[in-house]
Amino acid sequence: MLNRTESNHGMWSSRLMFILAAAGSAVGLGNIWRFPYLAGENGGGVFVLAYLVCIGFIGLPILISEILLGRAGRQSPIGAMVALADSVGVSRRWSVIGWMGALAGFMILSFYGVIAGWAMAYVPSTLSGTFVSISAIEAERSFEAFISDPWQVVGWQSLFMLLTIFIAARGVGRGLETTVRYLMPALFGLLILLLVYSAVTTGEFIAGLTFLFQPDFSRFNTDSLITAMGQAFFTLSLGMGAIMAYGAYMPKGSSIVGTATTIALLDTTVALMSGMVIFPLVFANGLESSAGPGLMFITLPIAFGQMAGGQIFGTLFFVLVTFAAITSSISLLEPAVAWVVEKTKLGRARSAMLVGVIAWALGLGSAFSFNIGSDWTIANGMTFFDTMDYVSNNILLPLGGILIAVFASWRLGQDQLLNEMSEDRAWIPVWRFLTRFLAPAGVLIVFVVTIF
Ligand code: PFF
Repeated sequence: MLNRTESNHGMWSSRLMFILAAAGSAVGLGNIWRFPYLAGENGGGVFVLAYLVCIGFIGLPILISEILLGRAGRQSPIGAMVALADSVGVSRRWSVIGWMGALAGFMILSFYGVIAGWAMAYVPSTLSGTFVSISAIEAERSFEAFISDPWQVVGWQSLFMLLTIFIAARGVGRGLETTVRYLMPALFGLLILLLVYSAVTTGEFIAGLTFLFQPDFSRFNTDSLITAMGQAFFTLSLGMGAIMAYGAYMPKGSSIVGTATTIALLDTTVALMSGMVIFPLVFANGLESSAGPGLMFITLPIAFGQMAGGQIFGTLFFVLVTFAAITSSISLLEPAVAWVVEKTKLGRARSAMLVGVIAWALGLGSAFSFNIGSDWTIANGMTFFDTMDYVSNNILLPLGGILIAVFASWRLGQDQLLNEMSEDRAWIPVWRFLTRFLAPAGVLIVFVVTIF
């Protein structure tokens, strides 16, 4: 049986640092860019309700499983799965969880880096007053002009990836922990500031709340449910080993259930707060709540451009998005970086560069999907960008999630389980029921429905 108390990659200096790092991974473009536009497109309150149910009954149990496996294995997800499979005497093929996860990480990072680059590009353009009093048509044109310039898109994507590689190269303590230690409190501070701004200046705060929290069941359909479930995986960074990798660096002796619940609550709070910042701005300026992915890059700049203080608060908003994206992208790289460190003599810095450059190169495909490569379609008319997003979120993450839940609840030895969950004994039966039956069944349903 494995019983390591440390990982060779380094450790978080405290439980709080693990929480900040994992919440940093979870809170990202998924919360600020994706959640509000999905809620907008899927009728608001109904979607939010379905999303909350998915987080509680499927996301949280799988989040607990990932932390558990990571902490029990104390290595990269691939290494941890091999070691855990050996220790309980099952096939090493379970390490497919780690392999699929690394693949999903590359695929997600390929489009994540592009969108994060856009958000970064919007910091100087908002600050310099590009959007002051801009009309809807002009905002749309300016966004279109920006994304159709391959140099600009690749330039910002490259800058974002460079930052990600730089942080990863510095290692767990000096790189990842130092980053989340400062950026996460800054992120929460900025979000609260923006919430107050939105509530005080728009006069539409209640309209925003009503939109988010009043379920209108006439708009409920299977599609909202499926989208909500996929979003629950994406937003909690589940199914690809990011949280497993972070769990490997978590100190022993703190409750996994309590920690996971805190992370899920923080993530959900940020998503809801982002909605509460964005929708009052949208309604106050007579804009469309169902604008889709352009909500953040077209609709919001129009709103900020029409409001007092919009230049400053708009800039702060895009700084917030950039911070949130960086603390997530480092976790997308970590499983593969840790594995290369374990398997080669390259060391941390060169491993981070190697893995980062591969992710960056794959990302070029996504960057070009909006300009010179917009007609390079792969299947069903989907661009490279669409394909990466679709395959990773709708196939790899749910599949990884089922395998993680099944391994943790059906395969892990009782002694290992008790060893990791000694602080959570009372919760073991509930967790086990959810991970053995409910979460896999739920995921399987989504999986089947989205594919067929
Ligand atoms: N959770 C991140 C977000 O909501 O933006 C995205 C993400 C990060 C997904 C890390 C998966 C992952 F492993």
